Order: sequence, then structure tokens, then C-alpha cells
Amino acid sequence: MNLDQFRKEYRLGELKDDSLEPDPILQFAGWFKHAAEILHEEVTTMILATATAEGKPSARIVLLKDFDERGFTFITNYQGRKGRELEENPYAAILFYWNELERQVRIEGKVEHVSDAESDDYFNKRPTESKISAVISPQSQPVESRQVLEDKWVNFLKDNFGKEIQRPHYWGGFRLVPDRVEFWQGRINRLHDRFLYTRTKNGWKIERLAP
Ligand SMILES: Cc1cc2nc3c(=O)[nH]c(=O)nc-3n(C[C@H](O)[C@H](O)[C@H](O)COP(=O)(O)O)c2cc1C
Repeated sequence: MNLDQFRKEYRLGELKDDSLEPDPILQFAGWFKHAAEILHEEVTTMILATATAEGKPSARIVLLKDFDERGFTFITNYQGRKGRELEENPYAAILFYWNELERQVRIEGKVEHVSDAESDDYFNKRPTESKISAVISPQSQPVESRQVLEDKWVNFLKDNFGKEIQRPHYWGGFRLVPDRVEFWQGRINRLHDRFLYTRTKNGWKIERLAP
């Protein structure tokens, strides 16, 4: 298949030095708010890249659950593939691509577990059906069939009907604490705008990068 037909020009916006916030979380907040107006719940979809201790990478989509001055939070099973990789190598990258705005945000840093209280809070807000799935699914492990999973789900419901479902210890939030954040705005002729924020002892350094 010839892929030349898929060439696209980026012409929707620009990113100027004098419009940048001094702090990347504030810059992200502005872009996120704008993107949410267009993308609605899709705005939280991001790619998470992790790596093993030997540096073998893997990537998958997760949902952004929260962000604030401390960093960017997602929730998952701590014992799945990403959870295990993050235990042995806590450095990770997350990436947002908002096609409708021709914008990309790349965020890199170290992850930490959020507090048990925060994970409990995320868990308790889930519908009962999703709580059960979180409890019964050994994320990233091979399973014999869908039927096996559905049977586990139904059996758990029967055994726990009317009871409060507790967050399992293997499920919770990770927070990525950023030390590099880059904002990319597509521009005409592939002469895109890129600004990199790097954490330093004296605060955030901002540089324009060549596209
Ligand atoms: C739209 C979308 C949203 C997802 N959100 C999450 C999420 O928030 N947390 C999660 O653990 N997996 C989420 N997944 C599933 C992951 O992509 C992945 O299949 C799963 O986490 C297992 O990854 P792992 O084997 O690398 O641990 C989502 C997948 C898609 C396509």
C-alpha cells in the first residue's frame, strides 16, 4: 500500500514564547481545558511507556485520572506488566496527542504510588461492576477463556452480594512526577513549535526546540 496519500499539513495553531506559562503544569492545564471542550472524555486518553530494568520498552493506553502540582495520576493493577515494570524501573513517559488541535504533550519522570487513601477514593467511586472486574482480573496474565473470567466475575458477585467491596492491595494509582514536559504544536511546512520545560534546582527551565 502506498502511504503517500496520507500526507497532512498542520495549520491550526501556533505556540509563542510569550504565551507560555512559567510552570508546565499550568501550561498543561490550559491546553487540557481547551482540549476537553473539543474531545470531552477522550481528553484523558494517554499513552504510557515503561521499561524493564534492562531498558526494554513497552507502551499502552491508560486514562489520566488526575493532575496537580505533584504530577499526573493514572490507576491500574500494580501486578500487571506495567505495574511490574514500574516496580523494577520507576522511570516512565506519558504522551497525549490531541489530533483535533494538532497538539502533542510529552511528559517524563519518575513514578510513585499515590497514597492508600487516594487509591481507596478512586476505587470507591467506581461502579460496583467495575470494582468486581478490578478484583477478579489478574491483569496481563494468560487466561484460559473469556468464560473463565465471566465465571469468576459472577461467582464474586454471588459471594459478596450486598457487601461493600474493598480495594484490593494490587490495584491503585501511580503518580508520574515530571522532570521534562514538552509541548508541540503542529505548524505549516513541518516547521512546528516545540517548547521543553526541564526541572532544575532553581525551578523550570524553558527552551524552544527545533522541530
Ligand atoms: C481507551 C483505553 C483506556 C484504558 N485505560 C486503562 C487504565 O486507565 N488503566 C489500565 O490499567 N489499563 C487501561 N487500559 C488497558 C491498557 O491499555 C492495557 O491493556 C492494560 O493496562 C494492560 O497493560 P500491561 O499489560 O502493560 O500492564 C486502557 C485501554 C484503552 C484502549
